[in-house]
Formats: sequence, structure tokens, C-alpha cells
Amino acid sequence: MTDAPRKILVTSALPYANGSIHMGHLVEYIQTDIWVRFQKLRGHKCIYVCASDAHGTPIMIKARELGVTPEELTSRFSEEFVRDFAAFGVDFDNYHTTHSPENEALTVEMFEALRAAGDIYTKTIEQAYDEEEGMFLPDRFVRGTCPFCETADQYGDACENCSKTYTPADLIDPVSVISGTTPVTRESEHYFFRLSEYEDRLRAWMKSATLDKNAVAKLDEWFDAGLQDWDISRDAPYFGFRIPGTEDKYFYVWLDAPVGYPASFRNLCERRGDLDFDEYWRPGHDTEVYHFIGKDIMYFHMLFWPAVLEGSGFRTPTSVYAHGFLTVNGFKMSKSRGTFIKARTYLDNLDPSYLRYYYAAKLGPTIEDIDLNLDDFVARVNADLVGKLVNIASRCAGFINKRFDGRLSGALPDQALFEEFGAASGTLAEHYERREYSKAMRLVMALADKANRYIDENKPWVMIKDEDRLDEVQLVCTQGLNMFRSLMIYLEPVIPAVGDGAKRFLGEDTWRWADASTPLLDATIDKFTPLIKRIEPEQVQRMVEQSKETHDATPADKDDTISIDDFMQVDLRIARIEKAEPVEGADKLLALTLDLGDSTRSVFAGIKAAYTAESLVGRHVVVVANLAPRKMRFGVSEGMVLAAGPGGEDIFLLSADDGAKPGMRVK
Ligand code: 2FM
Ligand code: ZN
Repeated sequence: MTDAPRKILVTSALPYANGSIHMGHLVEYIQTDIWVRFQKLRGHKCIYVCASDAHGTPIMIKARELGVTPEELTSRFSEEFVRDFAAFGVDFDNYHTTHSPENEALTVEMFEALRAAGDIYTKTIEQAYDEEEGMFLPDRFVRGTCPFCETADQYGDACENCSKTYTPADLIDPVSVISGTTPVTRESEHYFFRLSEYEDRLRAWMKSATLDKNAVAKLDEWFDAGLQDWDISRDAPYFGFRIPGTEDKYFYVWLDAPVGYPASFRNLCERRGDLDFDEYWRPGHDTEVYHFIGKDIMYFHMLFWPAVLEGSGFRTPTSVYAHGFLTVNGFKMSKSRGTFIKARTYLDNLDPSYLRYYYAAKLGPTIEDIDLNLDDFVARVNADLVGKLVNIASRCAGFINKRFDGRLSGALPDQALFEEFGAASGTLAEHYERREYSKAMRLVMALADKANRYIDENKPWVMIKDEDRLDEVQLVCTQGLNMFRSLMIYLEPVIPAVGDGAKRFLGEDTWRWADASTPLLDATIDKFTPLIKRIEPEQVQRMVEQSKETHDATPADKDDTISIDDFMQVDLRIARIEKAEPVEGADKLLALTLDLGDSTRSVFAGIKAAYTAESLVGRHVVVVANLAPRKMRFGVSEGMVLAAGPGGEDIFLLSADDGAKPGMRVK
């Protein structure tokens, strides 16, 4: 490389730490990781940071449901993410969390700077309030009937049927998703950020940031509609950072989430010592910062985030790269069809290199959606990676190993052909740089076809029978292996694990991009072992089956009925409460010991507000006996006791007549 190394910082969106990583998430992490690996292979100083997005109401509620603290919930998911990402070869330089001291310090610093600049003000607003739970409800936590088309059970912000938007107060018969009670409207003072003052600065940033044309169109649409000031606070109870100088106000999760990018980087600076935070995050330096995101969060990254940075003395991103959504077999991922596939389920069945290659073969730089068609996935990976790419090596390696002691010849028989492979370097680099991965993959596979044709034409398997032509065999196979090697170098950002295998086989330690243009000669190679196996369609079928089994239907793809078979799967039994005790540290729970006739079970039930422990002993209740045990903060719960009612004090255990005996099946 003749160019001076660039200093580049790259991020992927921070995943919410309340659900597992799935195929949809992986589009982005694989897209980003390929770009980062490409930059590193080119000799640039490229750093890739990420973190878990740990704050907000959904995480707080989920933790509460599971009886754990939000810190425990999010750190548990973070551990899972780190494992899954590593298995997919997503190689972060740092993975942190937004619930960190670095993030709190930076968020407060930005907020104070904005406040000092006059860009923060307070205003009283009205919001839905759950009196039972004592909390304000985000729009998505209120459901009711659409005021426009009267479709039942819609979220408080928009109707899925008629797409109209509204506020929770507009809903007919609104209900809090948390307690089931009717919310009231209550006033509260909120903090606002004057985004409306930032239009000129954002327009200027947009011009400098080389955004995709769809993203520019979207931004123009937002500018035309007029930028609204942004509500950046939430009332307690909330899991997040408290706003300085207040008792019960917190920063809205979307304020501190992107601050997780510089915060993760700062954490890395502290760990490594050779990086200067200011060089990457203050204006006036020769560094580059790129955010890879999904198209659904463009508003946050192309308006709020650059405005917050600009207004608080930080640098703005060099660019923001948005991608489209993933469909599977042409549809939104669906739990009932088994196409809502978790990273872990994929890993249990398939090699991650397949998916990395397939996504690369599909990805371009726009916000167009990409489809993971499972039949095409099998066919494409088998044809390209196994049939074309690795085939080049497997057709040549055996002869070199067996007949030439693993020794490559000292020259190439067709230098011009090899140079064609080297000459593709510039075009391929441009494709990678512009995130035109599908174009890059097509070019690599066209070259792989060329390499295979060369071997077909020279037929080393025929020449090898003629003692006088052995030298030629060595030359032809050396040529073949060098073409394979160049292609593997070009593909290293996409399938690094296969690249590692190829390096070992070729006896090399590391590759740089430029190595693709210089042949490997007079070297000894190792024994060839297949670098990647064919996908068997059964592996994919099994993964789909497992995805069906391991998930419940989502509200979106669930229909309103269940079959009698579904119902029969629920093993409802009569149980006698033998023991009931309060649980230390849990306000709502009682620990029950249940007699089911042939066994005893420990179950945690959220009924403490309605029943005293003493009043329960001896009662017959109905219990779901075949529920998988759930690990809760206070112990393992081995079933679920059925009750009716909205919750709190209004919860009624379903009891059975005295004739019912422990262990009887409920039908
Ligand atoms: O949409 C999401 O999944 C968010 N957790 C992404 C946050 S990206 C960044 F701003 F933190
Ligand atoms: Zn509607």
C-alpha cells in the first residue's frame, strides 16, 4: 500500500440486551465486520466497537417479570451476545454496555454542554399513567381500539391495520399492557432538546457525509416536515441514568444509547493506552468515524445524534451507513414458520462461514431489504464456496502433496493469467470500500470460474500419468493454487475462518491485501484437508424445525386460535399448597411448595399483594405442571399457578373443589 494508513473508528448499532441475537441482527454485524476486516487487511488502523443497549422501559419490565435486576438481565444477555458474535467471527475491538460509568459521564457532559448552549428546556406534557403500577407508560405499553378504523388491540402510537398515528389518549378503551388497568392521563415535566435549531447544521453535515440517496431523500422529507424538538427525559421508575439535579427524571434511552459508541471507545482507550479519545471524538482531527445501522433507526443517527454531537463540542460522524431489513424465504421472519432463527440455533446446525458468504453475496450499499432464501442459500454456498472456490485447491493440492513433497514450483507457467487476478485488486477494493459486497462476490466467483477452466484445460490428472510431464503438473498446480490463494485473500474479510485454514494449508501466517498480487513460489505447503463442507439440506431443515420448537408465536404472527393439540400439550394439574413463604427482596412474590400427588414442586407466584402466606396453606390450586423450569433471581420455579385478574391486589387464584385431589389432570 502506498497510501498512508487511515485511522478509522467503526460501530454497529447496539443491540438491546433483552432478547437473543437472530439472523436479522447478523446482517448488520456481518456487514460491518467484513468492512472492518477489509480495512485492516488493507493496512489501515481500523477499530470496531460495540456495546449492549441496556436501558429503557422494556428492559426494566422484562427484568421485573423474570424477577431479576435489569443489571443482571442485561449482563446475562451481553455474555450471550459476546459468545454468539465471536462464533460468527464478528471481531469487535471492544464490546461494552451503555450501563457504564464511561457512558454516564459522557451523556452528562453532552447534556450539560447542550444546556449551557441554551439547547435544553423543560415543558410540562401529558402522558398515559398506570396508577396501579405507579408509572408513566410509553406509547407501546398502552393498547386499545384504533380511533380511526376501530381495529381492536392496537398499540398506543399507531394502528397496524390503517397505519394512522395517534397518542394513547386517542385509543378507545385503552389498557395498560403492564397491569391491565385503564391508564389515566397525567402531567409531568420533561426535558427537551432544541432539535429545531439544528436544521442548517444538519443540512451541512448531510452534504459532507456521503449518504445513500434513499437516506438523503428521507432526511429531506424530515426537513420538509420541520424538525420537532426532542423529548429526552423519562420519569421514574426507569432504568437509565438520572438527570443531574433531579430526583426522579432519567435520560431517555435513545439519548444515551448512541453515546455508547464513544463510551465503548473510551473504555477501550483506558484498556489499551495507545489510543487518544479526543483524536477520534473531538473536531479537527484526521480520523474517520462510521456508524453502521438498520434503516429503522436513521432518524436517531442522522438527526438526533449528529445534532447532539455538534451542539456539545464533539465531532460528527464521517458517515452513517444504513442497510435494509432481512426477510427469510420472502417473508418477515416468523416464529410459527420456523424462520425466526436465533444465532445459537444456526450455530447448532451450520457453519457461520456459509452465512457470512451468503449475506456478502446479497449485500449492497442501499437500504433495500435482503432475502435469505433457504433453498438458494444451500445451492449458492455449495456451488460457490465448495464447487468453485475450494475445488480449485482440492484439484491441485493432492498432486503437489503426493508427487512433489508439498513443494510449489519456482515460477508460474501463465504469469499473464495470474496478473489478471492481481489486476482485480483495485476494483475489488473499491467494491468493498463502497459496501458493494455482492459485486465483489460476483467478481471473485467469475475469477474462480476462470481458475477452474484453466485446470480443466490443462488436465493435471492426465499429465500425471506421463513421467515426462511431471514438471508441467507441478507448474499447473502451482498456478492453480496461486489463483486460489489470491481469491482467498480477497475473500478473507468475508470468510476469515476459511482464510485461516487456507493460510495454514499454504504455510503462511498472515496476509495483507497486496499479497494477492504476488505469487507464492518455492514454498512447501501442508496436507490439504477440505476447508469447508457442503451444506446438506437436512441441516437447514433441522434448524427450521428447532426454531419452530423453541419459540412461542409473536403477537404479529400469532392467530387468535390454538388447536386442540396445542391445548392438550398443557399439562394442568391440581396441586395442594403445602407451604407458602415470603421471598426476601421480592415485593410481589411468594415461594410455594406444591404437592402434585406424585411429586413436590417449588413455584414462585406473584400473588403476595392479594394473599397472606398463611391463608394459602392447604388450598387446592390449578398448576401448569409441564412448564420448563425457569431460573429466577431467587431460585428455580418449577411450574405456574393459575390465577385471574389484572394483578396487584386484584388477583384471584383458581381453586378446585375439595373433591379434587393433588395430581388430578384438569380437563
Ligand atoms: O434499535 C435498536 O436495537 C437499538 N438498541 C439500537 C441502538 S444503536 C445506538 F444508538 F445505540
Ligand atoms: Zn386503525
